Amino acid sequence: MTLYFMDGRFTKRDGLNISIDDRGYYFGDGVYEVVKVYNGELFTVREHISRLFESAMKIKLSIPFTEEQLINISKELVAQNSISVGHIYMQVTRGDSPRQHQFPDPTVPAIVTAYAVEAPRPLGNIEKGVAIKSIEDIRWLRCDIKSLNLLGSVLAKQEAHEGGYAEAILHRNGVVTEGASTNMFGIKDGVVHTHPVTNLILNGITRQVVLGLCKELQIPVSEKEFTLEQALEMDEFFYTSTTAEVMPVLTIDEHTIGDGTPGLITKSLQKAFNKKIPVTATK
Ligand code: PDD
Repeated sequence: MTLYFMDGRFTKRDGLNISIDDRGYYFGDGVYEVVKVYNGELFTVREHISRLFESAMKIKLSIPFTEEQLINISKELVAQNSISVGHIYMQVTRGDSPRQHQFPDPTVPAIVTAYAVEAPRPLGNIEKGVAIKSIEDIRWLRCDIKSLNLLGSVLAKQEAHEGGYAEAILHRNGVVTEGASTNMFGIKDGVVHTHPVTNLILNGITRQVVLGLCKELQIPVSEKEFTLEQALEMDEFFYTSTTAEVMPVLTIDEHTIGDGTPGLITKSLQKAFNKKIPVTATK
């Protein structure tokens, strides 16, 4: 039996009290996080919950719990649902209020909903690598906020999916920003390139973990813009996210990256990443 969290309590699915007037439905007016679970343990949960509060602050949304409380709720969901490998999904919306664009009265509380699911790691793709498709980045200019408004990402992911690609590599005026739900990295002459932290990307937690690994492994990093044209000329390419981890990219559109196999630096980062997560996570 799956247990969900809503309105300050744990409940079965049929006990969820979701309103038609939830501002998440009307406006995508809310923020969310996805936290990975390995071997029954939440990975980088503090960083994710702290980013949830940052996103909420950026849209002037007040979360009626402390960071510590949300961490404990996440742990409880993992334990109650006996999750071994999977993730937590948590979202906060601006509450239940009749439809009007401006914020509801401040007495209307934000609604926190969360659940945990068992989901295997994409180990086949992590080992073999994937193909991605370049798509224009038509999203809004506050991609630093992990908002529920995801239409730009949804449309890009769907277009990539329909073409048989694993992910979309988004570009704005020819500059690579990030993926539909991932951060993009290219490697040229031993240097790891990725978009700087600006309003045009989400500063991924996995991105930050990988940049930390580059430092540990003494791999030079350049957090400067690069173009789609430059991306095609990289020696290696990969993307990161909570669920994709460190995912090698073999082709962008019809263009092969390097020799068309996962690159050596990418593999060394994968190895280092595997050492950071609980070791028995082989599913
Ligand atoms: N997506 N960029 C975007 C636009 C994202 O939606 C995500 C995460 C990332 C990677 O962030 P992180 O490493 O913190 O997961 C980058 C999540 C997994 C999702 O929407 O399912």
